[in-house]
Amino acid sequence: MRPRHVRASHRNSIILMIQLYHHQTADATPSVVAARAVSCRPMSLARRLLLRASRSAWLAGQLRDRAFLRRAVRRFMPGEELPAALGAAVELAALGIGSVLTQLGEQVAARGEAARVRDHYLDVLAQVGARRLPAEISVKLTHLGLDVDRAACLADVQVLARAAADAGSFLWIDMEESRYVDATLELFRSVRSAHERVGVCLQAYLRRTPADLGALLPFAPAIRLVKGAYNEPATMAYPSKRDVDAAYLVLAERLLERVARREARAVFGTHDLALVKRVRERATTLRVAPGSYEVHMLYGIRSPEQRALAREGVPVRVLISYGTHWFPWYMRRLAERPANVWFVVRNLI
Ligand code: FDA
Repeated sequence: MRPRHVRASHRNSIILMIQLYHHQTADATPSVVAARAVSCRPMSLARRLLLRASRSAWLAGQLRDRAFLRRAVRRFMPGEELPAALGAAVELAALGIGSVLTQLGEQVAARGEAARVRDHYLDVLAQVGARRLPAEISVKLTHLGLDVDRAACLADVQVLARAAADAGSFLWIDMEESRYVDATLELFRSVRSAHERVGVCLQAYLRRTPADLGALLPFAPAIRLVKGAYNEPATMAYPSKRDVDAAYLVLAERLLERVARREARAVFGTHDLALVKRVRERATTLRVAPGSYEVHMLYGIRSPEQRALAREGVPVRVLISYGTHWFPWYMRRLAERPANVWFVVRNLI
């Protein structure tokens, strides 16, 4: 049972959540808040604060074990352990929807930790292969020790790419903050030269991404195009949603042109249904069949629309996150839609 009175020890977290929510809600109903969250304004203060919070080890320590936050996180995560994620993948498969599995974690500081992450994913791939699940994996390079030992990280990604191919699966490489983009793309190119079943994420909000895409296209790459989830300076990334969406569409069209020539695997990782509609219209114009490109979304977001797209013949995958290291990742999910803070507050009272 939830306590009638919120304990004093919750005070800091409540204040933070309410302040964040208040920035969005001072004079608005929840539906107005949601509309504002997707408006064309430059990055809101709430989003900026949440992205800052995602980098705070102190805040993670204060909030991680609070029951109200753990309850709220469940909306985006079937559970902290791998069996819960595999169970969700089985349920999605029954609906004709594939999945992408990712263990939460980033920026490990010791080589042994990175090796354990590699071994965990090898186990995931073995289970996916044995159960013939339509599941792929997605990894963060800093979770595999990019900051600690770049050569060992590359070797681990090669091992995972081979195991993914053996399991009939696929390895995706996430894109993290802009300071990692060069290293991520360099590593991707090395792995891609030896393995086919590996792809990388590109972020439309980065001003550099059109050039990065141009450099990757000769490799017949698999690209997951997303808007971008981190707190980047305006010199690096477009601050307004309108500019990010416009950049996304231009990049999507370039990818679709390659798909039309069977020279790329294009994945559109977004919940922006208006954007998905426009991408699909471009695909029709380019005579790219709906089954030739994919839409990937996150677990727990836009689930009815995921099913509708799958029924219309668009291959859909759901990225399922699991693990105990969910705080930074969850803060980024809140930042994407600060009105989500309301769900946290509701779990608190
Ligand atoms: P946008 O933020 O405009 O949202 C469109 C609509 O979707 C909103 O109006 C809302 O209705 C719904 N929505 C979006 N986010 C929501 C949320 N958190 N809760 C509830 N509703 C929400 N980023 C990155 O930097 N590197 C990466 O490797 C990846 N990988 C990745 C894989 C996949 C499969 C997806 C779907 C996303 C990522 N991302 C990512 C995250 C991505 O950059 C972006 O932050 C989110 O997808 C949110 O942006 P949208 O494109 O959904 O649009």
